[in-house]
Amino acid sequence: MKLLVTGGAGYVGSVCAARLVESGHEVVVLDDLSTGHADAVPDGVRLVEAGIDDAIGDVLAEGFDGVLHFAAKSLVGESMVDPAKYWHGNVVTSLRLLDAMREHGTPRLVFSSTAATYGEPDQVPIAETAPTRPTNTYGATKLAIDHAITSYAAAHGLAAVSLRYFNVAGAYRRFGERHGVETHLIPIVLQVASGRRERVQVYGDDWPTEDGTCVRDYIHVVDLADAHLRALEHAAAGEHRIYNLGNGLGFSVKQVIDACREVTGHPIPADVAPRRAGDPAVLVASSEKARTELGWKPERVDLAGIVRDAWDFTRSQQGA
Ligand code: UFG
Repeated sequence: MKLLVTGGAGYVGSVCAARLVESGHEVVVLDDLSTGHADAVPDGVRLVEAGIDDAIGDVLAEGFDGVLHFAAKSLVGESMVDPAKYWHGNVVTSLRLLDAMREHGTPRLVFSSTAATYGEPDQVPIAETAPTRPTNTYGATKLAIDHAITSYAAAHGLAAVSLRYFNVAGAYRRFGERHGVETHLIPIVLQVASGRRERVQVYGDDWPTEDGTCVRDYIHVVDLADAHLRALEHAAAGEHRIYNLGNGLGFSVKQVIDACREVTGHPIPADVAPRRAGDPAVLVASSEKARTELGWKPERVDLAGIVRDAWDFTRSQQGA
């Protein structure tokens, strides 16, 4: 297929673009490089360095079989202090994309949604039928886009799949997590191990969990990317399907730090800090629907293995 990957110079987008190319697809990346990196675009892939608002019509006019839409603003904290950046940057931009796809007859869409659409869960593991009550603006914008996709699919025959990511981690070859502002646990802990940060703060040790720290579902970015390939194959005209992507396994903040100590051999000093606003105690996915309907199964579920891949990437960046 000929596929457009928006945000293909970012972390998840670049890994997906690489896996798509390896599977024989023709890929074009559209990225304004506001947070992505030109050197993260896989070899053999054309980069159109522009924003969706400016370029989407011209690009889709070339004719594509589908779009994988990763480009987004994705910092939860920032979304609370600068909501306009998220409503415009995520929702308005995605509407432009949907309109351009309709105008140019692009038949398929795979969209990066998020566990943040659910908010604080009533029960875990979280299924796709769980209530959607986002607790932050980031999650609210992704949910709004999901709703728009549902109506465009029903009215205009779009074949659409939204994938709701839990905590994406790990790396693939030269493609990994490189954020200007890092807020995610594993890269922060690895910054300590690589000497770029002194200590890690544990946001609360009085949560109602076994060791008192928050529990999350860490999914390897390669397993996540492979779900996108399956989603493309299973997308059906006029339908919008939604799937959670996680391992179904929860690891606490303390367990993550311990795994990082084991993999890196660094003591990684950690301090307990106050709870971070908006953090739910436990977020673990039920990915049964993706397993059953997409035939997808996460293969890289071992936490130490996920951390090892992220650590190899961190060290390759230091050598770069
Ligand atoms: N944490 C720390 N110290 C840190 C950073 C994080 O203790 O320095 C804790 C957090 O409090 C949380 C856990 O580590 O309990 C994981 O935090 P991340 O920031 O890595 O990830 P989140 O679970 O907050 O967020 C992820 C995605 C979001 C998405 C959300 C869905 O990164 O994009 O899941 O709920 F919205």
